[in-house]
Amino acid sequence: MKLSFTYAFAVPNFSKWIKPSLVRNLHQSVCCYSLKSAPSTSLKPQIPLFLRPPTHTATLSDLKKWHEWAKSLASSVGTAFVDLDNGPDSSLLCRELKWLMEDVTKDCLLPCQIPSEKLQGNVGLRVSLEDLYRLWNQRIEERRPFQYIVGCEYWRDLVLCVEEGVLIPRPETEQIVDMVADVVSDNEGLRKGLWVDLGTGSGAIAIGIGKILKSWGRVIATDLSPLALAVAAFNVQRYDLQDIIELRQGSWFEPLKDSEGKLAGIISNPPYIPSSHISGLQAEVGRHEPVIALDGGVDGTDDLLHLCKGAASMLKPGGFFAFETNGEEQCKRLVDYMETDAGDSFLSVKIMPDFAGIHRFVTGFRK
Ligand SMILES: C[S@@+](CC[C@H](N)C(=O)[O-])C[C@H]1O[C@@H](n2cnc3c(N)ncnc32)[C@H](O)[C@@H]1O
Repeated sequence: MKLSFTYAFAVPNFSKWIKPSLVRNLHQSVCCYSLKSAPSTSLKPQIPLFLRPPTHTATLSDLKKWHEWAKSLASSVGTAFVDLDNGPDSSLLCRELKWLMEDVTKDCLLPCQIPSEKLQGNVGLRVSLEDLYRLWNQRIEERRPFQYIVGCEYWRDLVLCVEEGVLIPRPETEQIVDMVADVVSDNEGLRKGLWVDLGTGSGAIAIGIGKILKSWGRVIATDLSPLALAVAAFNVQRYDLQDIIELRQGSWFEPLKDSEGKLAGIISNPPYIPSSHISGLQAEVGRHEPVIALDGGVDGTDDLLHLCKGAASMLKPGGFFAFETNGEEQCKRLVDYMETDAGDSFLSVKIMPDFAGIHRFVTGFRK
């Protein structure tokens, strides 16, 4: 998790640069809308735009008019959002407009490429033209995150459904899955074990780990938010991992009482932003992402320290943990806790940097 979206485009996020339509083709075949692995809930996640049928039509000329209006709105932003709160500039917004067109039109059309003699025909759309005006207004005027507009985010090799109420998974969090891949690669006990992703949000980490463990191991993904769990269930089903990943609702270790001392791995990217920083966040984050996913208490470490404390009793001997933090200070605080207050419970406690070189993760093993 990071404080802004601008950063997401400044660090290597390779999946973002894969042509969305290619990734989409890879994943559409596993699309499934039932929510068998979710705890019982009446919440229905929104279907991302690219998965909706193209049931609307518009004339090419009307679509082109919309596109010109949307482009001029994006261009009018200039660097105003950057100056205000490190938000997106016009060039990023124009790139988002291109991605929106790819998600919304049946044939991934870019209206500016259509010669004027062909503007008579109609085009199939996944939302109405009126909705397109409304959505782009929300993006620019309300600073609604692009990922909530299109209903998905590209993360590792996944396309994850997201919506308001559920944190948009961040590129730096992808590394936590690589760490799990590393530790299980030469440790059969961990590969065949029970892992937990605490505060799963969209299910990103759990799905990443589930794909690595395959049918060898199991993952329990928990969250306090029923909406997050409904969205995670949608994503788990889309990747056909419902036999490997179980979803449970509750606060941190509370839904895991049956697993005390048995866990092979505990992974979490909990809320870690200091409460006083929330009001100063980039508008896309502070106004639209759920506070429950962001606010980590006075210095941001309330949930992180709770997880560190629980790890000693929940992990089996040799079990692995990895927690994401806000940066160096929080990492040091956690290492200090693990090495002094937690007695002799852990070994090989390390601070690991993210792609940008920021000290981001604390990892280690239960003795
Ligand atoms: C920073 S988000 C991480 C989401 C996801 N793991 C990711 O990396 O994209 C933190 C998540 O913790 C959940 N959460 C907050 N308080 C919680 C609690 N007491 N117990 C369980 N989950 C909680 C939030 O709902 C949110 O989904």
